[in-house]
Amino acid sequence: MLQPVANTEPPLLAALARRPVSRVPVWFMRQAGRSLPEYRTLKGVDSILTVLQDPSLAAEITLQPVTRYGVDAAILYSDIVAPLAYAGLEIDIVAGVGPTLEPPLRSRRDLGRLARFHVEALGPMAETVRLVTQSSPVPLIGFAGGPFTVASYLIEGRPSRDYVHTKRLMLSDPELFRDILARLTDIAIATITTQVRSGARAVQIFDSWVGALGTRAFVTHITPHLRRLAAAIDALGVPSIYFSVGTAHLLEQATSLGFSALGVDWRVDLSSLARRHGHHLAIQGNLDPATVLAPPDALIDEVRHVVASSRRAPGYIFNLGHGVLPESDPDVLSRIVEYVHEEGTALRSLCGDEQ
Ligand code: CP3
Repeated sequence: MLQPVANTEPPLLAALARRPVSRVPVWFMRQAGRSLPEYRTLKGVDSILTVLQDPSLAAEITLQPVTRYGVDAAILYSDIVAPLAYAGLEIDIVAGVGPTLEPPLRSRRDLGRLARFHVEALGPMAETVRLVTQSSPVPLIGFAGGPFTVASYLIEGRPSRDYVHTKRLMLSDPELFRDILARLTDIAIATITTQVRSGARAVQIFDSWVGALGTRAFVTHITPHLRRLAAAIDALGVPSIYFSVGTAHLLEQATSLGFSALGVDWRVDLSSLARRHGHHLAIQGNLDPATVLAPPDALIDEVRHVVASSRRAPGYIFNLGHGVLPESDPDVLSRIVEYVHEEGTALRSLCGDEQ
């Protein structure tokens, strides 16, 4: 009785709901953009923030990897700081550096700068989502940055390695830190709500840098905001993926926040995660992006290992453990998609315990 549903439901959505899939779904973080020659041709030298003002261009860039790779999801071409930039915060995205904010956000008075955000500023983003979902053969994943990760750019003023200003603020003025994160959580919810109302069928939270925190700080200062974010996405009726990097030490906490799925990097042992949490969460990941640059045999061996390691999780989505590296060969990514589509189901039903 349930079989026809399983076969027609898009594999990404079936996997996120931990239902049977017609094939193992695949997509790649950062699949759109810099690693694609057709993107470099189209975008020329414009900043991403300029491109995002042009919904038909942003929609075309979003769909380029869907056409080229045959992946099971589109991910909106945007950036985690774009909602703030749309709303007039002095964000810049500097080539080869990343997001910057001058002056950085460090005082209670600076909190007022975040008040400028208003959801109407997301008009071009909503239009991009509509254009993509009108023509995409696969579901569109909307996204927002995790509140800690976005706060780290705003408080540091630029990408950082040690997050000294962010951690200092967290410890010296926990109320202000909480208020900043609460405001960024509101902005993330407003962004995702806009995306879902415009047609996005799933949502990913990119909390790339939260692994800089220890367990105690994560639980005290971050998880209340993440729980609220997960509940808000749930109320929109779409599944959610919580992605982070270097967070093996935070996974036990991350599995109980209310997200539908956990996206993990290559440092995480996928088979143990699948065994311990696959019954209540979908799992996404976790091929090391550097593997894409390896010789073909070594690459396929790693892909096989990742897929087979996922088999105790009924809901599994193949992805890299972080974004596609700019020097990746698009033909290699095509081969990975083909391989996972052809062999994924068999690899996940292998007997024995060799992983
Ligand atoms: O590289 C390109 O595709 C060109 C456009 C561009 C993006 N971000 C697209 C993007 C540019 C120039 C940036 C700047 C940026 N933003 C950087 C600089 C380094 C870099 O990767 O080029 C950084 C670190 C950011 C901040 C940021 N943006 C983070 C931490 C994340 C989460 C994913 C991650 O890499 O950890 C993003 C998301 C992002 N940036 C997306 C896109 C298209 C969406 C997610 C996706 O496609 O998977």
